[in-house]
Amino acid sequence: MNSGRQIKLVDQEVSTRSPFPKDQWYIIALSKELQDNLLGRKILNIPMVIFRDKKGKAVALEDRCCHRGMPLSQGLLEQGKIRCSYHGLLYDENGHCVEVPGQNRIPSKAKIKSFYLEEKQGLIWLWYGKEESVPLIEAPDYPYHDDPDYLYDGDRYHYQAPYQLIHDNLMDLSHLAYVHLKTIGGNAKAHMNATMKTKVIGNQVIVTRHMLESDPPPTYSMAYPFKNKIDRWQEIDFRVSHIRIWTGAIEAGDDSLENPDRKGFHMRGFHAITPETENSCHYFWTMSTNPKHDREHIAKLVIDQTKQTFDEDKEVIENQYKNLDDFNHPEMIGIHIDVGLTHARRIIQSLI
Ligand code: FES
Ligand SMILES: [Fe+2]
Repeated sequence: MNSGRQIKLVDQEVSTRSPFPKDQWYIIALSKELQDNLLGRKILNIPMVIFRDKKGKAVALEDRCCHRGMPLSQGLLEQGKIRCSYHGLLYDENGHCVEVPGQNRIPSKAKIKSFYLEEKQGLIWLWYGKEESVPLIEAPDYPYHDDPDYLYDGDRYHYQAPYQLIHDNLMDLSHLAYVHLKTIGGNAKAHMNATMKTKVIGNQVIVTRHMLESDPPPTYSMAYPFKNKIDRWQEIDFRVSHIRIWTGAIEAGDDSLENPDRKGFHMRGFHAITPETENSCHYFWTMSTNPKHDREHIAKLVIDQTKQTFDEDKEVIENQYKNLDDFNHPEMIGIHIDVGLTHARRIIQSLI
């Protein structure tokens, strides 16, 4: 009999397994959140303190003083170094203790773990690797934040719900017709009857929906001088740690929705869902849009309405999670709109 041994192996496997996909870049903050402040944030079950060093480079360390375990995020920033608020140990950007008040010798073990970050295009990415703390691939590129045709802004939500429920919501935009009627919704029938294509390329899922000859929803009419019916598109690009959603419209019949350079009104949403724990997450978002006139003003209106739609989503998803929890997580039934999210869930499953 070797069942005892088998049980031990399973136990070991469970204890070393991450509930989140590894070897990925995750967003831990938007650049604008990090000025000369300390940010305490639990990311992928790890409490981290995030700040800028003397040169302005973003740094993330374990949020734990190696002396008596005080959270360093409650300490003070001193010219790019961080001082513990309990007995004053000072740490540099690599997590090494560089000063012990009243003592000359610094114990060799006085250091804490640091994480590999990369900041670009207004986003701060963390490499979450299997073994190496050095990344195996480059941090994702998000060119629209640098594109002069677009203006953007964004924010972060804290969600009391597991990250995959937000993936589900973003992979299925038919909910617009029911949840977001006041802004980007539009006609429910047009949404449910939209032509939909789903493509899986490695760990990427691309869902394309076209709604031809539909009525412009309120946000679209406000932002762009549409005269009549519009040809509307939604392209959802799922990438494990974040989802890019390009939506927009042209005057009906003006161009092909297959033309990647088509003009018209664009909203490019960036949605990075970073698990906090198994049951909660950070949702970082930005919205880039391309107003033709009165740019700052229109972009602000579009971004404000985007925020309104995301508030609506948060209410739905947190209610949904609470209810699933109250019912002890019953089995969910699939319908035709769930194709994209089912692929996304399969990919996550294969990575954890
Ligand atoms: S706990 Fe940080 S210096 Fe003592
Ligand atoms: Fe939504």
